[in-house]
Amino acid sequence: MEKTPFHAKPERPAPTSAAGVAGAIAADWRRGLPVLASEKFTLRELRPDDAPSMLAYLGTAEVARFISPPPTTVQGFERFITWTHREREAGACACYGVVPAGCDHVVGLFQVRALETGFVTAEWGFVLGSDYWGTGLFLGCARRVLEFAFETIGALRLEARAAVMNGRGNGALRKVGAVQEGVLRRSFKRGGQFLDQVLWSILAEDWHLQRRGRPPVVH
Ligand SMILES: CC(C)(COP(=O)(O)OP(=O)(O)OC[C@H]1O[C@@H](n2cnc3c(N)ncnc32)[C@H](O)[C@@H]1OP(=O)(O)O)[C@@H](O)C(=O)NCCC(=O)NCCS
Repeated sequence: MEKTPFHAKPERPAPTSAAGVAGAIAADWRRGLPVLASEKFTLRELRPDDAPSMLAYLGTAEVARFISPPPTTVQGFERFITWTHREREAGACACYGVVPAGCDHVVGLFQVRALETGFVTAEWGFVLGSDYWGTGLFLGCARRVLEFAFETIGALRLEARAAVMNGRGNGALRKVGAVQEGVLRRSFKRGGQFLDQVLWSILAEDWHLQRRGRPPVVH
């Protein structure tokens, strides 16, 4: 997770073959993300004019402390937004902007990206502006994104990585029902330091059990 949402982003070439084009538009979400809404928030596709609010909410040192460094300019966020659209068209990544009820600006991101062709194993990452920490916005959005990942995309396993030192990130993952699988030693370079990360997972079957109020079966 720590490398999402702002991990290194090599340019993805446009599909060249007919099969590639057909593959790229095989699922509806690849043509445009479905809006996921509740009375407290809307999760929607990013737009170029979201860049200034993303810089204001997600560009602070406090928010970025344990994740890959976010862009430092509006133009940098605009490039990031364009990249998310290309990745979605290619069926590689879905990136949602979080808009709280009563606002018209994005204050956070949830990203789900494929770790292998076909999206069987995927990774998710999230970030919210610190004004919204501890408000319940995370949990509400996370549940909708999990539903999208398992029921719309069809992922079977969703991983997340959180720096061991990231108390809020690990607490948030535990709260949403993720299972801690182990520690990836010195797996994330941040600010010239190599950090240990906790590897978390949620399986599609965990998700379905959770919806019936039951805990995941680990072994
Ligand atoms: C990760 C993030 C989206 C979670 O949103 P949030 O609103 O802070 O999350 P919540 O408050 O709902 O949940 C965090 C939980 O961790 C707990 N927590 C906070 N600090 C903690 C600490 N140092 N150690 C252990 N648990 C801690 C909180 O008490 C809370 O649990 P509770 O609701 O049962 O009390 C937000 O903190 C964020 O954007 N952080 C910066 C980006 C980031 O680190 N993203 C990577 C996550 S892997």
